[in-house]
Amino acid sequence: MSQHETPLFTGLREHANKNPLQFHIPGHKKGQGMDEEFKDFIGPNALSIDLINITPLDDLHHPKGMIKKAQALAAQAFGADHTFFSVQGTSGAIMTMIMSVVSPGDKILVPRNVHKSIMTAIVFSGATPIFIHPEIDPELGISHGITPDSVEKALNQHPDTKAVLVINPTYFGFAADLKGIVDIAHRFDVPVLVDEAHGVLIHFHDHMPLSAMQAGADMAATSVHKLGGSLTGSSILNVREGLVSPERVQTILSMMTTTSTSYILLASLDAARRRLATEGYTLIEKTIRLANETRAKINDIPNLYCVGEEKLGTSATFDYDPSKLLISVKDLGITGYDAETWLRQNFNIEVELSDLYNILCLITTADHEKDTMVLVQALSQLSDELSHSKNEEIKSIPVHVPDIPVLALSPRDAFYANTESVPFEESAGRIIAEFVMVYPPGIPIFIPGEIITKENLDYIKENLEAGLPVQGPENADLKYLKVIQEQVAIR
Ligand SMILES: Cc1ncc(COP(=O)(O)O)c(C=O)c1O
Repeated sequence: MSQHETPLFTGLREHANKNPLQFHIPGHKKGQGMDEEFKDFIGPNALSIDLINITPLDDLHHPKGMIKKAQALAAQAFGADHTFFSVQGTSGAIMTMIMSVVSPGDKILVPRNVHKSIMTAIVFSGATPIFIHPEIDPELGISHGITPDSVEKALNQHPDTKAVLVINPTYFGFAADLKGIVDIAHRFDVPVLVDEAHGVLIHFHDHMPLSAMQAGADMAATSVHKLGGSLTGSSILNVREGLVSPERVQTILSMMTTTSTSYILLASLDAARRRLATEGYTLIEKTIRLANETRAKINDIPNLYCVGEEKLGTSATFDYDPSKLLISVKDLGITGYDAETWLRQNFNIEVELSDLYNILCLITTADHEKDTMVLVQALSQLSDELSHSKNEEIKSIPVHVPDIPVLALSPRDAFYANTESVPFEESAGRIIAEFVMVYPPGIPIFIPGEIITKENLDYIKENLEAGLPVQGPENADLKYLKVIQEQVAIR
């Protein structure tokens, strides 16, 4: 088969064109049995392929036909031995990836700044996380990747480790020396699992960091939907044979996945793969050029800093994806959230995320110069307004990143322990039983089992006061936190 073909998307269209008389789920039957307004809005084409795993359309749980062919083409395009489609986002692919290689009590090396889906898989599997501290960037207030040295040290201390997990690249686009990490882990016969949620494009251009499969990693959960042109909620899991069993991966994926798989999402993966494989290089080349031009223009604006290759050179910032525009606004004397809100209110611009110090804007294969010009114009105006509205000099916001809390109990033990709710202000010193994170990016400030510190509570308050979305606790307004019952932590 050729990368120009789309066996799944084409197969669905051919099936829909036959206009079969349907006596099966979904009950809306090509849109005839659904709300009229929604039906008209979504349109007949999408509804005609909102189908289910009837025999002619194959089955994601036991692919033998058009899904198998589509996955094989994706594997070829991504340089994997096997590719599995996910209709439950990269979170679903990540949970499958982890649960395929660890059993209860097994050790897994993970950076502490992982997405909550990784910690969820660790709670569900009962694995023991061995945390590697990521490198912190004191100028930007963000975490980068982990270094080969820290992985080697951890593997020497824990030679019975069953897997190493790496985030590559990070949300902000920084890549670690993944090949170095893979070589070290493989010396210990330990598989490397990569959270490649923000790296679907990197495989398709040589001015991007090495992809997981190029670096020799064993598995990668790769968000095609985030940057690669498929529909939200669709993702893939790439697998290299050797240290990982593809049969086990298929079994776990099936256990974790709905039996009502969305064929619209699956078809969008097939089509996105075709576009990346056949036109990806040219499209990404243009995207990188546009992002670099925009970065240079933003860096001409007073008090703004758009991060670029000058940040490279450490083993945690080994490489980066230039299509990400990470813009530090702290020298304007406002938070990233203030900048996000200003851009929304004044220019109808929506950014990818903001934090206390930065905003992140993504340039993708969808963008054109006319779009980035508006962003540059908006940021110039923001900088002008702040400079003119302040008589005194703008006071830059000092960057502050809290320490990583100490883990006193395994996340699973803490999550399933007897708990009680205590007032937020009185929780310092207790062991937390729930996650607390700012989403996006969804990196936990606390994970179950960690000792609550005053410094981290202050950091949460700082985020709340800035208007950032702090999530996780059952008590959504964070007046109370769930902690392990009557167990005061001893330091
Ligand atoms: C680093 C990282 N990993 C995993 C995920 C999960 O991806 P998804 O939203 O497709 O489930 C995200 C989502 O933001 C992420 O930022």
